Amino acid sequence: MIISSLRLFQFRNFAQQEIEFKPRLNFLVGANGQGKTNLIEAVFLLSRGDSFRPANFENYLFNRKAAQARVVAKLKSEAGDYKLQLDFMDGRRTPHLDGKRTRFSTLSAEFPVVLFSPESLASIKEGPEQRRVLIDNVLATLSIRDAKLLSDFHQTLRARNALLRQIADGDSRSTTLQSLESLTSLFLVIGTHVTASRLAVLRQMAPRWQESARHIFGIDDLSVGLEYLISDNCANTWSDEQVFNALSQRQSELSRREMEYGGSLVGPHKHDLRILFSGNDSRFSCSQGQQRALILAFKIAQIDLHHSVTGRYPILLLDDVMSELDADKRMRLMEYLEGINAQVLITATDLTWSRHFPEERNAVFKVENGTVTLTAPSAVRAVMPSIG
Ligand SMILES: Nc1ncnc2c1ncn2[C@@H]1O[C@H](COP(=O)(O)OP(=O)(O)OP(=O)(O)O)[C@@H](O)[C@H]1O
Ligand SMILES: [Mg+2]
Repeated sequence: MIISSLRLFQFRNFAQQEIEFKPRLNFLVGANGQGKTNLIEAVFLLSRGDSFRPANFENYLFNRKAAQARVVAKLKSEAGDYKLQLDFMDGRRTPHLDGKRTRFSTLSAEFPVVLFSPESLASIKEGPEQRRVLIDNVLATLSIRDAKLLSDFHQTLRARNALLRQIADGDSRSTTLQSLESLTSLFLVIGTHVTASRLAVLRQMAPRWQESARHIFGIDDLSVGLEYLISDNCANTWSDEQVFNALSQRQSELSRREMEYGGSLVGPHKHDLRILFSGNDSRFSCSQGQQRALILAFKIAQIDLHHSVTGRYPILLLDDVMSELDADKRMRLMEYLEGINAQVLITATDLTWSRHFPEERNAVFKVENGTVTLTAPSAVRAVMPSIG
């Protein structure tokens, strides 16, 4: 699948803009603060409904005061062409697929994108929630079934938390306690499914990630890995039954505390991941550039897995990927991008690092103060080591 065109109306710093993308590499080049990330965000929002950076609703509206905004993508796939539209109005975001209202929960599987941005580093640097996002994004883009499973889980978690809050606030009616009991049974079953799906996908990702990390780092015997932690135990090899038993046992141990606290203390929303680089926790043992390359390699493994499972490539969004990568890593990343048949939107402040690409399938766009223009590569490439 590719995006053949993107239309923005009163979105962020774009009053009105249409961009016709090429099927392979699309470079979005411009100085700081011109709107490159806003473009990446627009495409990401179409897939996920939510942004990868914190934003109030008014931040999406042109000059933060337009009455409404709209982002429209024309998509081309083997199954045909379709139009995805996201409207921003009255504090709400509403997605439409070919003119009909659709749901966010399955959109990411229908329109899969893989994002790498400076915010992606949060998966290593910040808390467990950011690390779970890393793996849940793989699930949500890979299959509609898993996307729906995650959405059902969050719905059940919200319902259970509301009930626990009610109990913590003094509601001790037997009907409330019975509702909690049946919701807890459902919660543990869905929680087990989510955990089992995460573990299955991690097992599929592991060899691919190892390979992509070795390639990007240029180190043949580099070892990278991921440990999935349930109550601080590595659960990588656990069966579904072991997961269910562990969740159930821990839940019954903590059931009184949950009722006092007013929220769910056990479940997939509490699990963590340890990202290992040469056997050590990457949070403490890697430099900023190494962390960046490690997450980038994870995203490459995700693209690979997606392609081998679905036969299609997701759209790859690379925001500001080249900063902090050394020259060798940049070159190996470009080699990889050239070698796959995926559409890529890649932002940069200049193209001094880039080689020449044939213009029928690749394009360079200049982004300047909320305006995008198709440009000859030489106009933005100060030094062009032309190859091929
Ligand atoms: N709702 C809005 N209305 C108007 N301008 C906005 C809105 N939201 C953000 N901007 C402006 O968009 C610009 C930021 O755009 P963006 O983050 O896309 O920059 P960038 O080109 O990615 O820059 P960098 O190279 O620094 O990452 C800023 O100047 C910001 O003030
Ligand atoms: Mg940016």
